[in-house]
Amino acid sequence: MRVLVAYASALGSTREIAQHVADRMAVALGEVECRSVEEVKSVSGYDAFVVGSAIHNQAWLDPALVFFTHNAHELAKRPVWVFSVGMSDALPRLFRKRGAALQQQRLEQSQFQDVELRGHKVFSGVYEAAQMPGPLRVLFRLTGGHFGDLRDWTSIDDWTDDITAQLTGSSEGAGVQGLPPDPPTGA
Ligand SMILES: Cc1cc2nc3c(=O)[nH]c(=O)nc-3n(C[C@H](O)[C@H](O)[C@H](O)COP(=O)(O)O)c2cc1C
Repeated sequence: MRVLVAYASALGSTREIAQHVADRMAVALGEVECRSVEEVKSVSGYDAFVVGSAIHNQAWLDPALVFFTHNAHELAKRPVWVFSVGMSDALPRLFRKRGAALQQQRLEQSQFQDVELRGHKVFSGVYEAAQMPGPLRVLFRLTGGHFGDLRDWTSIDDWTDDITAQLTGSSEGAGVQGLPPDPPTGA
């Protein structure tokens, strides 16, 4: 099975998550390629896709949106999972869950309509103080916000393993779930 993990990242934390997901999936699935969305020339020949982007201003980065829109027709024929990387775990504890849920809802309502997703997960990435405008930093810290590497690798691993299980569990004999089996080769 050939899987593409495609990502868009501004400062690197989404790229590292994508690479980690691809490496982990490759142990069970074999051929898993990890590429930035800008590197991908064609999406044909893949059996499944995982696409991720950093979130800026409540939306995916432009290259990820262009990739998704441009390839929606092909992606829609295969199982697709997406992940979005933001900073909800930097928020004061009280707002973290709600922040992530709102973010997820907003992205799903505005971005992925053309492809029926198998799943969408919002992770936190790396959010350093320098990424927030100076005057807001003090207020953010005073109200319980914090900065740093917020990635929850256990949660990332769990999500990855769930995808792997879906792909391996359904690939025996009948092709990837939702797709017809590959036609027999030869006469
Ligand atoms: C200009 C800018 C805008 C951002 N906007 C959002 C946002 O709307 N929602 C969010 O959850 N995180 C936001 N973030 C935080 C980033 O998504 C987070 O730092 C993420 O880890 C960045 O991924 P990257 O390292 O792959 O670029 C923003 C960061 C920057 C620099």
